[in-house]
Amino acid sequence: MIAGTRRVFVRWITGVFAALWAGMASYPFFRYLISGTKKKQAGEELVTSISLGSSEEFLPGASKNFKFGSAPALLVRSEDGAFHAYNAICTHLGCTVQYNEEKKNIWCACHGGVYDTASGKNLAGPPPKPLKALNVEVKEGEIIVSRA
Ligand code: FES
Repeated sequence: MIAGTRRVFVRWITGVFAALWAGMASYPFFRYLISGTKKKQAGEELVTSISLGSSEEFLPGASKNFKFGSAPALLVRSEDGAFHAYNAICTHLGCTVQYNEEKKNIWCACHGGVYDTASGKNLAGPPPKPLKALNVEVKEGEIIVSRA
């Protein structure tokens, strides 16, 4: 009777360990599958436009780093009063760019990349291509940034 109970216990504990081992072995695979699903969900929630407040309060020479959805973005009002907005991800290795008020250009602190404020074109340093532009319009005094 005791030997039968012991046999049942050994089978039970072996089953528990087998289940734990199978769970640990398959965990990376399921994580991989779930990460693909999350990326799809993030892509479905794309932001198409965002309001950045009053254009009268955003004076020439001012700039603002903001989030466009989950991506960093940059709004600059140049000295001539025109608005320019870009995806603020440097085209070199992906650092966040910012406006340089002194030099009136957009720069990347990581490796010294420089971009033109009016066009987003790469001017100096390692960035291989221009910044991705966003549309900017002023509707009833409100700055609206949208996908180009
Ligand atoms: S990441 Fe911007 S210059 Fe290298």
